[in-house]
Amino acid sequence: MTGSHALVTGGAGFIGSHLTRALLAEGRRVTVIDNLTVGRRGAVPDDARFVHGDIRDEAALRDALEGVDGVFHLAAQVTIRGSFDRFVEDLDTNVMGTARLLKALDPSRVRWFTLASSMAVYADADSPAPIDESHPTRPLSPYGVGKLAAEQVSAQILASRGIPFTAVRFFNTYGPGQTFTPYVGVLTIFITKLLRGEPITVFGDGEQQRDFIHVSDIVAGTMATPGKTPGCYNLGTGRGTSLNQLAELVLEALAPGQRPQHAPAHTGELRFSVANIDAARRALGFVPARSLDRDLQEVIAHIRAREGLAE
Ligand code: UD1
Repeated sequence: MTGSHALVTGGAGFIGSHLTRALLAEGRRVTVIDNLTVGRRGAVPDDARFVHGDIRDEAALRDALEGVDGVFHLAAQVTIRGSFDRFVEDLDTNVMGTARLLKALDPSRVRWFTLASSMAVYADADSPAPIDESHPTRPLSPYGVGKLAAEQVSAQILASRGIPFTAVRFFNTYGPGQTFTPYVGVLTIFITKLLRGEPITVFGDGEQQRDFIHVSDIVAGTMATPGKTPGCYNLGTGRGTSLNQLAELVLEALAPGQRPQHAPAHTGELRFSVANIDAARRALGFVPARSLDRDLQEVIAHIRAREGLAE
């Protein structure tokens, strides 16, 4: 990837802005395209070229792809629960946006294409045992359907054009810079609510498990893809945490003695979502370095600062 000029779609968002900063820090050139619906202009470093536009807009895509020789495609409507209300908009962005981006690529220039996919493409698992990439894909949500369709159409179109394609399936990503919305990552929701003096709610019995991975590990795994064996890779830690355990951890740090509230489980959510990362380890040299227990105070400090609260 040395000397390459990468396009980061969604580069003003949570994961995209971290990726953009890491690429620039390695001396790469970066163009960001983002419609700023969730992303913030201020999250894009000045050293990156910024195109304010939507991936469904062909003129904006042409502008963004100028001089680019590789693509990290992260722009998407990112919410599993929200995708039931907004499935038309979500599929339009996540599937048709991807299709338009593929159409706009110049195969004589672009040498690799990496898509941010999701654990939401998988069928539910019977147990918390880590699942590998051969686990059946049977998405439970419109969001998962969109991500799987984006993977499949990218694989077909890019193969026909001779461009190496990798899909990285992100598990539950946390870390500084995650925007607070009702649909955003549960760790950010729990911490923000407790700092605001509000109760936290666990959906369902709380025994569902997630694989929480720090954004810097997600960025390292994603950045490792160009030039490596193309394919499909889980990016997680291999460790599951139940929602009850997560609630306990956060309550212990911020509101000892308080108990979480409970609300009915949402449809469309996986019971068990823990990654087997052997394939990424072998092909990408992916070794996650961070862990939720150790990172909790860092995440709390960032959210405290964002909320304008003193230590
Ligand atoms: C998240 C991402 C999704 C991504 C996937 C893998 C968001 C909004 N979704 O999905 O885009 O593809 O990880 O990286 O970031 N929960 C509660 N109480 C709450 C909020 C959530 O109990 O107040 C529970 C949910 O029911 C779920 C778990 O926490 O079981 C995780 O939810 P969430 O952090 O929203 O992520 P996912 O939906 O798993």
